[in-house]
Amino acid sequence: MTLFFLDNQRFHAESGETVLSALKRVGHPINYSCTKGQCRSCLLRLDEGKIAPKAQKGLEPDLKAQQLVYACQCVAKNGMKLSSPAEDTYVSARLLDKLSLSEDVTRLIIKPDTRTPYIPGLCTGIRGPEGLGRTYGIAPGQGEGTFAVHVRRKRNGRFSRWLCDEVKVGGSLSLTRPWGRCNYDGAYGNDELIVVAFGTGIGPALGLVQSALDSGHQRPISLYHWGKYLDDLYLHRTLLKLMLEHKVLHYQGLISASSDADRIDNHRVRLMDVPQILKERHELGRDKRLFLFGEPDMVAKVTEYAFLCALDMDRIHAQSFEYRDLRRRPRNQDGQ
Ligand code: FES
Repeated sequence: MTLFFLDNQRFHAESGETVLSALKRVGHPINYSCTKGQCRSCLLRLDEGKIAPKAQKGLEPDLKAQQLVYACQCVAKNGMKLSSPAEDTYVSARLLDKLSLSEDVTRLIIKPDTRTPYIPGLCTGIRGPEGLGRTYGIAPGQGEGTFAVHVRRKRNGRFSRWLCDEVKVGGSLSLTRPWGRCNYDGAYGNDELIVVAFGTGIGPALGLVQSALDSGHQRPISLYHWGKYLDDLYLHRTLLKLMLEHKVLHYQGLISASSDADRIDNHRVRLMDVPQILKERHELGRDKRLFLFGEPDMVAKVTEYAFLCALDMDRIHAQSFEYRDLRRRPRNQDGQ
């Protein structure tokens, strides 16, 4: 049995067990979501003990220097001492506006209280009540210093309900700093960009495309938005309009439900999966750069396809988060 400490409280872990798993087992209200070292919901500070590289994989140098670790990737060791990250690790923000984009997707406009830019295409974690937290891709905002997130209201999704219904316009939020590698960079100027968004991944995908267009990107940009049903393509008109305004941009909607086949024109919206259309339209070579946003299984499938086409992994930029409720039992009102 391994003994470790969090905020001066004693906890026990099984041999080889992660800090997150040990804390969950006793009902500690720690934030977590993906359990894969991707969403940053579970960051803790390691005050005493040796840091395994996996526990900090992908963190920026200054966060590493602050000894922050993913609780879900940090195996508990005897005598290890951890603490909850200081409040100044987070950025306070205000919810400026809410807009319904479809029956189940809401766009929230957020103004963070910092000069750090929340660049479209990157992502940020939003902290909620009772140890809940979720990570969202950053979509274009409305006005200087703002950004947006597209939130799909999940059936039984406590976090999305809280964010869409309980946080009022004008209310406060707490965010992580932005991170990721799905933003546009001027160094990509000679590359053909292929941008694929699944579901609400279209928010940050649109942000990336707009940044590229605003930067005067001259090479072709192909934007694909995939949804199961036609109604899932909730920015279809906006994207068609954007395509008409920019010669370099090609937009294509894709759906998978054959029940909607008679509602589509087979031109701007096709019944097709993503690897199929990539195969039909693109030779994934050296001058291509692929950006993927949205559902993890879909992103993984297209990443695998691109990898098998010998596209360099440095040229594949993926942003995906799992939002399943991974808790085995609901917390009570005290968050226990
Ligand atoms: S990074 Fe640990 S739960 Fe997502």
